[in-house]
Amino acid sequence: LVADLQGMAKGRLRLAAVTTTKYFVPRLLGPFCQEYPGIDVSLKVTNHRQLEERIANNQDDLYILSQPPEQLNLHVQPFLENPLVVFSPANHPLAHKKGLSIQCLNDEPFITREAGSGTRKAVQELFGEHKVSVKTRLELSSNEAIKQAVAGGLGISVLSRHTLHSGDDKELSILDVEHFPIQRQWYVCYFMGKQLSVVARTFLEHLLKVSEQLAVLYKSGT
Ligand code: PGA
Repeated sequence: LVADLQGMAKGRLRLAAVTTTKYFVPRLLGPFCQEYPGIDVSLKVTNHRQLEERIANNQDDLYILSQPPEQLNLHVQPFLENPLVVFSPANHPLAHKKGLSIQCLNDEPFITREAGSGTRKAVQELFGEHKVSVKTRLELSSNEAIKQAVAGGLGISVLSRHTLHSGDDKELSILDVEHFPIQRQWYVCYFMGKQLSVVARTFLEHLLKVSEQLAVLYKSGT
């Protein structure tokens, strides 16, 4: 189908995606826009709650997120894993220890994402289930700012593995704690009854095609 549409696909693609996808969605757009020069893209990057509002208002063609709202009639397609890892400064006493119990996180100074974040909700659910109580020192709405605060020694945090790169090893350590990583998926969604534009269908096929390459890239830890 993609081959049939090549050259015909013209117009604007409206994408909306949650914050962590900024580590791979903009990168995919380079080769995609080269292949389809007639397509312009607008990409809105926001947190989970704001994305839910955009979905409810039918503002975009396609949405990328980890927890598709169940009450809406969405077509939902998983395409990549999104593991959430717990990490600390490299010189933290728990760094490099093996097989830690989740109770080791009790009373640790913690840096959290803002209310409305999907990452925060997943972490709160896990901590709630195991009655873990961390000391929240700081609340930040940027994954990048959280990494910096952890590297600066303010506490530990939980973010998607996609936010960490091999070069971060000097300053940050992923902790080996039971129940981590929290296993989540990335989904691409749209309204069930919505007739997708040629442009949106073209991008959807491209995303599904490259998702296997992305999975290999992330498995190799880069
Ligand atoms: P967030 O969403 O940016 O709202 O935390 C990411 C996710 O749900 O994994």
